[in-house]
Amino acid sequence: MKTLITFFFIVGLFGAMGLHSPSEERLRDTAAGKIAEAYAADFHRFREEVDKLIEAADNPLDLALLRQQLAETRMAYKRVEFLFDYSKPYYNYLHINGAPLPKVDKEDANGDIVPPNGLQALDELVFSEEAVERQDHIEKLAAGLKRRADFIAQVHLPLPLSDAQVIEALRSGIVRVFTLGLTGFDTPGSGNAIPEAIASILSMEQAFLLFEESVKPKARSKYQEVERLFRRAYYLLDANQDFDSFSRLAFLKQAANPLYENLLDFQQLNGIETGKMSYHAQNYQARNLFDEDFLDTYFYSELSYLPLDNPASIALGKALFYDPLLSGNGEMSCATCHDPALAFADGLAKSKTNIPGKFTRRNSPTLIDATFASRFFWDMREVTLERQVAHVVDDTLEFNTDFYAIADKLRQSPTYSRLFEEAYGGIGKEDIYRRSISNALAAYVNTLRSFNSEFDRYVRNEISAYPEAAARGFNLFMGKAACGTCHFAPAFNGAVPPFYTETESEVLGVTLGFDTLNPQFDPDPGRAENGVRKDARPHYLNSFKTVTVRNVALTAPYMHNGSFNTLEEVMEFYNRGGGAGMGLDIPHQTLPPDPLNLTEREKADIIAFMHTLTDTSGLMVSKVVLPEVEGYPGR
Ligand code: HEC
Ligand code: HEC
Repeated sequence: MKTLITFFFIVGLFGAMGLHSPSEERLRDTAAGKIAEAYAADFHRFREEVDKLIEAADNPLDLALLRQQLAETRMAYKRVEFLFDYSKPYYNYLHINGAPLPKVDKEDANGDIVPPNGLQALDELVFSEEAVERQDHIEKLAAGLKRRADFIAQVHLPLPLSDAQVIEALRSGIVRVFTLGLTGFDTPGSGNAIPEAIASILSMEQAFLLFEESVKPKARSKYQEVERLFRRAYYLLDANQDFDSFSRLAFLKQAANPLYENLLDFQQLNGIETGKMSYHAQNYQARNLFDEDFLDTYFYSELSYLPLDNPASIALGKALFYDPLLSGNGEMSCATCHDPALAFADGLAKSKTNIPGKFTRRNSPTLIDATFASRFFWDMREVTLERQVAHVVDDTLEFNTDFYAIADKLRQSPTYSRLFEEAYGGIGKEDIYRRSISNALAAYVNTLRSFNSEFDRYVRNEISAYPEAAARGFNLFMGKAACGTCHFAPAFNGAVPPFYTETESEVLGVTLGFDTLNPQFDPDPGRAENGVRKDARPHYLNSFKTVTVRNVALTAPYMHNGSFNTLEEVMEFYNRGGGAGMGLDIPHQTLPPDPLNLTEREKADIIAFMHTLTDTSGLMVSKVVLPEVEGYPGR
């Protein structure tokens, strides 16, 4: 699957648009044609606002004016964003509105670093105390933005669009507003999140209304329903524009989810083709941002000819996961460090190895929902669940063996031979080999998902009561405390919305142990020394994967080094602005070092929210009957 998708992705990057081009004729009388026309006009307006920004950044500096103009420019951008980011996500990330961090350009043969640029970098700087002092740099950023916007207008307009693509872009636009807009991800300096969300919603509404003339009779009432929902989204935002107190939970339940669902219904009823038209990890048929299948785990797996949802592979993988036969000394299984009773972690700061008294380098993370990622391990060194297995097998402190030795042992078992035959017969030269072993384990790990927590069921309207403290906590998590700007909904991990194609790592300055008075720097280099050539960058030093906070109530101790024993300690760490906030020298910290100023009640509320993310239903394993293996009696 990955190879196929990579192919489309590359076509997308290098092809004129990456989107199919409907003929000019067809364009004129479709809704999409009208939307494309309005979009082109909006795009030019955005460029004009960038021009004005350059003027405003010029000498002599009037800071109030500059801030006002940046807000205008960003608003103009918000009008084009849902279609622009949909059709040019990578360019957008790299140059227009990506996070204000250094980025490694995947397309650049030299792998040069692109320094922070674009609208987010501007938002951060122009609204900071350094704005006046760094006027030169602001001018440079504005000029860079202009070059990019002019260039992209040349190759990008007119935008060839189909109705199906418009609906897909609208649906991802709803996800974007909820996950990135309302969390403040987008507006690190100005905090202008709600007014910008209004601009986004209005632009999407206006685009949607251009379907008016092509609505079929049986889709008419759905059309009106979507129209009503856009209005509701607007009113909710307009009624309370205060960043801290705006209710994200109400917006999610009353506007975002219903829009996401009803846009799909409209699409179907109006006879518009449905399905994935672009490169992303959403399951197109999902109806709710917190549906169990909102994210498509296939997207992240290695091989389409060895599917992860084959029941035979899953059953086999489950047996292998709990079988100590796989390890060199026959005493260790995956479950030794990933215990189902502890949400597939092990309750230790670092895991015990096969050498008494020696521990693994890092903490054993939960495997529940681990599948929703494009990278694995705290240092991001592996790219699929299948490939992750080899690290355990080879590690002298873990299985300390190799796939040949494992296969030889498994072949001694008629039961295993049969299970492998059923799952993988005829695929390779042998049924039992590296790929089939890895795939079976990955297939089992891929079943460890949890989207039936109290929180999920509440936002899917399956239950009607939800603790008030948790509701306040959710709002803090997604707002004032900024957790949701890294632990993105719905998996609450580092998979970046709205397309969820990449998993992020961050530098938090996690300390050794928990001591707020004398914090100790943790020298673990993390991502910068994970062995991946393109990751060997100074800004990835001490950078670690953003893991999920689902099930954290069960997985203490926390962080890559297991340093924090309780969620209270985790909260205190964030409240102080991470390592840098506690006074350590962490040059590339991506967590803002400013204190969050959370009250005791607010900290408790966030913890209460995280407690409603517990769900191990269907994943508990009481007793696994291991297949018989000759030469290993009485297992
Ligand atoms: C000795 C303890 C131990 C054993 C045995 C073990 N693991 Fe792990 N596992 C860990 C630790 C520790 C990490 C984190 C290591 C790191 O990131 O550097 C980890 C990480 C992982 C991850 C990455 C999770 C993520 O979110 O990135 C997966 C998946 C995983 N293990 C699956 C397995 C499977 C499958 C097996 C059996 C083949 C297994 N583990 C055996 C300790 C263990
Ligand atoms: C700048 C990005 C960022 C922000 C903001 C952020 N986190 Fe994290 N979070 C991470 C990363 C990265 C890790 C893993 C760090 C490590 O181990 O070094 C993590 C780890 C965690 C863990 C431990 C998970 C585990 O299994 O060990 C919890 C709990 C957590 N975060 C909760 C929160 C809460 C609550 C907030 C808001 C107050 C928050 N995070 C804000 C990026 C972030």
